[in-house]
Amino acid sequence: MKKPRFQTPSGMRDILSEELTYYQKIFDICQKMADFYGFERIETPILEQTELFSRGVGQATDIVKKEMFSFKTKGGDELTMRPEGTAPVARAYIEEGMRSRPQPVKLWYFGPFFRHEKPQRGRYRQFWQFGFEVLGEASPVIDAQIIQLFFNILGALKFKDLAVKINSIGCSTCRPRFKRILSSYLRNRASSLCSECRRRLKESSWRVLDCKEEKCQAVINNAPQMLDYLCEICHKHFKSVLEFLDELSIPYILEPHLVRGLDYYTKTVFEIVEMGKEGKSFGTLVGGGRYDNLVKILGGGVVPGCGGAAGVERIIEAMKERGVKVSSPSSPKIFLCQLGTLAKRKSLVLIERFQENKIPIAELLSKDSLRVQLERANKMGAKYVLIMGQKEALEDKIIIKDMATGRQKLVEIKKVINEIKKQLKK
Ligand code: HAM
Repeated sequence: MKKPRFQTPSGMRDILSEELTYYQKIFDICQKMADFYGFERIETPILEQTELFSRGVGQATDIVKKEMFSFKTKGGDELTMRPEGTAPVARAYIEEGMRSRPQPVKLWYFGPFFRHEKPQRGRYRQFWQFGFEVLGEASPVIDAQIIQLFFNILGALKFKDLAVKINSIGCSTCRPRFKRILSSYLRNRASSLCSECRRRLKESSWRVLDCKEEKCQAVINNAPQMLDYLCEICHKHFKSVLEFLDELSIPYILEPHLVRGLDYYTKTVFEIVEMGKEGKSFGTLVGGGRYDNLVKILGGGVVPGCGGAAGVERIIEAMKERGVKVSSPSSPKIFLCQLGTLAKRKSLVLIERFQENKIPIAELLSKDSLRVQLERANKMGAKYVLIMGQKEALEDKIIIKDMATGRQKLVEIKKVINEIKKQLKK
């Protein structure tokens, strides 16, 4: 087939109706979970000042260095299509004066994000995330509750063997010393690192720990671990988080080299993966952690924070892989077939009565062939088919056919809505 003249940009896709039912299902579960745990929804703009991310996410991160869609507007503003949601939420917390509200402030979001990454399975340039953020609370119980919340959402989507990879990356008291020790360890092994990591060594040796290159793994695996250098406060915090996870029976794996690719994290960092699915998996489903300095970096004073975000496409791909189907709750169970001009006219009016009664009904009013209409009813899996032929239309009657049993019933048109309501209740 000839390629169409216009196509979606690389790494971006149209999301068609069938696929959108998955997004809707995930959104609905998030909304229920948010209501239960007391999170308010927030939608921040797609565009933010570029500096929000260079400061918040960090100059040395891959996201800021290589992956942002940034541009200068005609008015001269430097803007970026949001690559993630935490810095924008922290910006909104400051800008909207949320510090004067009772703390903590709990916010959640669901929307598209943009990163100029190499497109591959589970990695797109426009992708959707849902995220949950708690601002204004430093207690480790929040870290555990955030993880529990994502577990619950994934559980409701029928994910089973989930595990949390978890680490603590300390705070501004204990991390600088560890960074010096790590730097010297890595510099001594620079020749065993990939060229990108040798460059990273000059700017932020910490980011070498993010590298996925085979060549660097042996060096990373034997590198000093932050957990051995935590200050007393961070150590206590991490211990409490793990105890809370034990209490909640959430399985976790200590990942001493997990640092996550964003600079704003302090103390806890975590990722949720499906066990046994790695290798052929879609990568990390959820990533998050504590960010006690982010609001301060953005000029909003000392406000601790903790949260996480999940990749919607990865979740959907994993659901499809294991055959989890979702049907649109509003997809019609009834199909109306008509034959002849009078039946078409009466059907037109009847459809409006279904609409007023909020009962979804499908039809192919523009078609005349009964065969074509019945084929469509079968294809969409209608439970009941209403048939109005010329004879029925003349007598103000209609046939209700139960597709499961094949049983048919002739009823007056004016009674069909009540009859269908009765059937649907069964
Ligand atoms: P992140 O790990 O960069 O964290 O992204 C979170 C999740 O978004 C990933 O685990 C993955 O499922 C999905 N994701 C990321 N990039 C892509 C991509 N190119 N294509 C498809 N899915 C992707 C953050 O964004 C942090 N803001 C999370 C957070 C919230 N931390 C604290 N609060």
